[in-house]
Amino acid sequence: MSIIFNEKESLFSLYTRNSLYQMKADNYGVLLHTYYGKKTEHMDYSYLLCEREHSFAGSPYEAGNERWYSLETLPQEYPSYGAGDFRRSALQICRANGASALELRFAGYEIKEGKYNIPGLPAVYAEEGNQADTLIVTLKDTASDLYVHLYYGVLEDLDVITRAVRVENRSGEEIYLERVMSTCLDFMYGAYDLVTFYGRHEMERLFSRTAVHHGVQSVGSTRGASSHHYNPFVILAEQGAGEKSGECYGISFLYSGDFLAEADHDQVKQTRLVMGIHPDNFHYLLKPGEEFWSPEAAMVYSSQGFEEMTHAYHKAVRNNICRGKFKNARRPVLLNNWEGTYFTFTGEKLLQMASEAADMGVELFVLDDGWFGKRDDDCSGLGDWYVNEKKLGCTLGELSEKINGMGLKFGLWFEPECISEDSDLYKEHPDWAFQVPGKSPMRGRYQLVLDFSREEVRNYIYDQMCKVLDSAHIEYLKWDFNRSICDVYSASLPAARQGEVLHRYVLGLYDILERLNQRYPDMLIEGCSGGGGRFDAGMLYYTPQIWCSDDTDAIERLKIQYGTSFCYPVSTMGAHVSACPNHQTGRITPIGTRATVAMSGTFGYELDPAKISQEEKEEIRGQIENFKKYYELIQHGDYYRLTSPFDNSCYHAWESAATDGSEALVSVVANHTYPNMAQETIKLRGLTPEAYYEMNGKSYLGAALMYAGFPMPKPTVEYESFQFHFVKR
Ligand code: GLA
Repeated sequence: MSIIFNEKESLFSLYTRNSLYQMKADNYGVLLHTYYGKKTEHMDYSYLLCEREHSFAGSPYEAGNERWYSLETLPQEYPSYGAGDFRRSALQICRANGASALELRFAGYEIKEGKYNIPGLPAVYAEEGNQADTLIVTLKDTASDLYVHLYYGVLEDLDVITRAVRVENRSGEEIYLERVMSTCLDFMYGAYDLVTFYGRHEMERLFSRTAVHHGVQSVGSTRGASSHHYNPFVILAEQGAGEKSGECYGISFLYSGDFLAEADHDQVKQTRLVMGIHPDNFHYLLKPGEEFWSPEAAMVYSSQGFEEMTHAYHKAVRNNICRGKFKNARRPVLLNNWEGTYFTFTGEKLLQMASEAADMGVELFVLDDGWFGKRDDDCSGLGDWYVNEKKLGCTLGELSEKINGMGLKFGLWFEPECISEDSDLYKEHPDWAFQVPGKSPMRGRYQLVLDFSREEVRNYIYDQMCKVLDSAHIEYLKWDFNRSICDVYSASLPAARQGEVLHRYVLGLYDILERLNQRYPDMLIEGCSGGGGRFDAGMLYYTPQIWCSDDTDAIERLKIQYGTSFCYPVSTMGAHVSACPNHQTGRITPIGTRATVAMSGTFGYELDPAKISQEEKEEIRGQIENFKKYYELIQHGDYYRLTSPFDNSCYHAWESAATDGSEALVSVVANHTYPNMAQETIKLRGLTPEAYYEMNGKSYLGAALMYAGFPMPKPTVEYESFQFHFVKR
């Protein structure tokens, strides 16, 4: 059992392979967070608590004359608002009488074998063979019958601890939830950096690292989706921690809507990190007898830098968050027509593209936007999910049959959550789109958002999708979402419940995705939101891969995929080779480099084969063979960031090493060349130090490659890439 309750000390200790997480219900029933860090033998870490009195730090009534005892300075496991802890809180409510002070006290616990689930929400699950246990600690408000159940999933061998919260209203009054964070970590000592991943459309998940300073630092989204702008994954890192050393704590939030992560550095140099649903526009009514589940946060502690943390996340995301037939299967090499044709295509053109794709060794042809309703640009048609047979010149069934006949699978794009005003659906049901009565709606890419909090809306869209999916042999679906949400107002909910709409929307999204997964278990679903605008662990529970970015430029992708790699494995990152000059940047890169970069993702193409040369076609054939050859190693090996694309180095390198050290593939892109270039070496990782490795007929000692490095070749063309395959002798 990975969870131990020591009754005498009232101490909960949660053990994973490398970490220990500890909390204690003290004499007043306050649940104190005493430790999260490197695994040790049993120890009551409350010896670290400081019995020092601080002015203006009040004490709970029960503490009597113990003025040092203050919730403001003691580390809290789940701090509540309004009762003496002035740092950022985890829970804030408003009672029927308007009071918000909430005082939570220990009221019991339960330890169960296996990992808990959350109804309607994604959650890390234990696979057969995983050791997993659940702890539920119950807290109760001193003034009302509001119960807060803290859930902990301890996945020992995965080194992951999950947290979620169930708030239960057993009182006779209506209570509003104003803020329900999924996790809170209090650190009594230490100097930390906050690592976050920021960006924008076509430039997502850029690495940012700043010192945690006095005050509150935060990232989050209020766009209705996790967003391009900040990712719901953050790291709190000991200052000085790097890839290979130093302590760090990752928190991945399994949620695809509004989120907030806050780091609060207080008057006595303590640091608190909270993460959960963004409280802006969250106002959730709990009637007597009702309960609310927060989404889940998955935490990983590493005492050996980012690399160890990343490896734990990669395994957990791949095996314990992604689900279904494809989670560990090689995904078909695809060709998507989007950048090849945009909206301008005919059935004949598609068939010609597919035929050339098949000839190059592509395995799946994906028909992107523009095949349905009236949709020759992005101004119309969304919501009308019926096939434009005039444009295709045939039925979808016939098109897919012909494509299948070429030996290719067939896939299709949808944007189920959105609606164009110029559509039949909008004419019929204008109230199905989010809009505030009396106000003109905000448009995003000319479109509005359907109210997925409403079951009838979801059912309609689901039925329309199923009709299309059943009309042809469709083995892949791209689920897109191309705007941010505002004008949040549901025509079906009373005023008192409008603050629930955004969360109900996300639950609605998950509901329809779950239904599709159940009904089409053999269909691969790729998530997308204008590229990587909803690249989060919540979506990955339903879609095992997500289109990483609408920026397909190989050089820009280095930064995007680097940032993405901190939490998410290559099997989740949609990456394609596109045409040059690149459509987003105008940059020209060798096609080999584009393939090297896309290979560290799900791998595919997004171009018009008619517009490339015979030599390039030949090269593509070789690339696909190469990808298949290295697939196992790339997808299932350990991923190492050997350099950062933000460094001054002229090369950016990363590596996939077999977990047993038997082989490694090092990919390098020369992203900056200059005359008379200096020699650079790159140090490898994950090899067996005493073993010898062969590469291009030469032999190298593992230790030498790791500790002295491997010299980089001189590039002969701009942005040249190299792949070095080292095999143990
Ligand atoms: C988004 C996606 C693209 C493409 C277009 C189609 O931008 O990210 O890949 O599907 O929509 O409109």
